[in-house]
Amino acid sequence: MSATSTAPLLSPTVPALRSLPAELVASYRERGFCKIEGLLTPEQCARFRAESLRLTSDVGKLNGSAGYQRVLTQRVNIWRDSTIMAELTLHPQLCAWATQLAGMPLRLWHDHALIKQPMNGAATEFHQDQPYWPHRDSPQPISAWIALQDVPVERGCMSFIPGTHHLTDLRSSDLADPTGLVSLRPELAWAERVTLPLRAGDLTFHHGRTAHMANANATDQHRVAHTVIFIPRTTRFSGGGHVCTNGIGFKPGEIIAGELFPEV
Ligand code: SIN
Ligand code: NI
Repeated sequence: MSATSTAPLLSPTVPALRSLPAELVASYRERGFCKIEGLLTPEQCARFRAESLRLTSDVGKLNGSAGYQRVLTQRVNIWRDSTIMAELTLHPQLCAWATQLAGMPLRLWHDHALIKQPMNGAATEFHQDQPYWPHRDSPQPISAWIALQDVPVERGCMSFIPGTHHLTDLRSSDLADPTGLVSLRPELAWAERVTLPLRAGDLTFHHGRTAHMANANATDQHRVAHTVIFIPRTTRFSGGGHVCTNGIGFKPGEIIAGELFPEV
């Protein structure tokens, strides 16, 4: 290469990042969720799925009530324990899409491996996520939910109630209790629900207040999903308890920041 030639901005092996169409972003802002196809290839899914299953094989003994364990086998902050899973959680395209949908700079809050065991017999019931978190000044939290194998309705795909991200005053509800969210807002029993089966490598994004649930896994294979939760960089610690902030020593009102919560 001559001294005067211009080097390419990206190496040819790094695919350029794709922007989302304006209509999809507008729909996300109005309805509080969206679906995007083709983040990962089948080969990438197989690699991440194997790693996720490897790292969750003993999780049942580690955390959660018996009822909760029937709903989900999960491992929080799996990216910190596996460079392979960190590749997925901090995937540049994923982070770019989340930032575009939120419309503001973000940082990682945490990730989870979310496994439903074969024939688990328990749905993840409707809930909002944000009431579980010790946050304030966090207007646009956004979660990606990535299917690491095909997730049809009967394997436990997600459903959403459009517009519920505008409900700012709800308490947390028990995601093992089918009446939990509806007992807080009875009219939601009659609201439209949108169910989104995903092919391996597809994902949904939802706002941290969008009500969502996932069906039970009625198949003989694990449902392996990976969720990545981003929060605005303005987010402050409320003082509440949470597994991701307990023991760190944040003071109420302090911005949640640091190497455990990287900017994306
Ligand atoms: C699930 O994967 O079953 C539920 C995910 C969520 O609550 O975000
Ligand atoms: Ni949730």
